[in-house]
Amino acid sequence: MRYRIAPLFCRPWTLNGMSPRLIESHYENNYGSALTRLNVVTCDLETLDLKTTPAQVVSRLSREQTTLLYSTLLHELYFASLGGDGRRPSEIIASRISRDFGSVERWRQEFVALAEALAGDCGWILLTYVPRDGRLINQSASDHAQSIVGGIPILALDMYEHAYHLEFGANTTAYIAAFMRNIHWEAAEVRYTDAIKVSPPRRLEQPEFGDVPSVTPEDVQEMLNSGQRVQIIDTRPRHYSTRAQDIVEGAVWRDPERIEDWIDTLSKDQPVVTFCVYGFHIGCQSADTLRKAGFDARYMAGGHYAWKAIKGPVKRFE
Ligand SMILES: [Fe+2]
Repeated sequence: MRYRIAPLFCRPWTLNGMSPRLIESHYENNYGSALTRLNVVTCDLETLDLKTTPAQVVSRLSREQTTLLYSTLLHELYFASLGGDGRRPSEIIASRISRDFGSVERWRQEFVALAEALAGDCGWILLTYVPRDGRLINQSASDHAQSIVGGIPILALDMYEHAYHLEFGANTTAYIAAFMRNIHWEAAEVRYTDAIKVSPPRRLEQPEFGDVPSVTPEDVQEMLNSGQRVQIIDTRPRHYSTRAQDIVEGAVWRDPERIEDWIDTLSKDQPVVTFCVYGFHIGCQSADTLRKAGFDARYMAGGHYAWKAIKGPVKRFE
């Protein structure tokens, strides 16, 4: 396939403190060269004889293709980030920025600080929406290959020297201020509204336990930290538990095969959390059985290993 050039999004003659000469040179020489080279490399890759070409050659071309595509896409976003009055994001985006950064002013300070830190260096400063968590983050990407998986950048500041040197020399502070003055928030908002339509990655679904409520390991940690009384039952199978070295601090192990032997030791006045090794079956089944017996029971999603992965406290399992 052939990547096609995107026209300049911003109108260079309308920018405040950034000249058409700077934008033209950047667009033609840097964006244009990245796109042209991207097409050459892509063509090379597509026509390689993979049976005879050394793996290193394929790898080198593929990496170069990734770098050039990243540069191409971010340059398009950079030119589309300019052309506004830079004042204040519209309400939709401002409220999300305030929620995720504390305030628009705080976001701005962080964004500018990240840019200032690249003075004398090079890279991109991005405002990126992450569908997994439904939030915006600022990102300092020091080269063309640091992208956040699934992240959708909605604003890009080019901190490569070619983006400013022609006009600002080494004065990156003036260049960054000029960029901030020219942010096209209306266009960023359109990209943001598109971005939030992207669904987060699919989570584990267990239709057979769809009716059994779960809690996350973080929920359990918060319950314990807040002093809430909760009965935490480790129901890892006996054959597994005989090999286990550790157990969640505050949990007791009970044999999931013999619920009838220990169910009477539980109180119906306090919630019960059950879990197994990874959170697939046994913990869910135990919670289901306890719920049918009238307990307020939920299973901990991800089980023992999710608890360990969030560095939840464990003790030696005797
Ligand atoms: Fe650039």
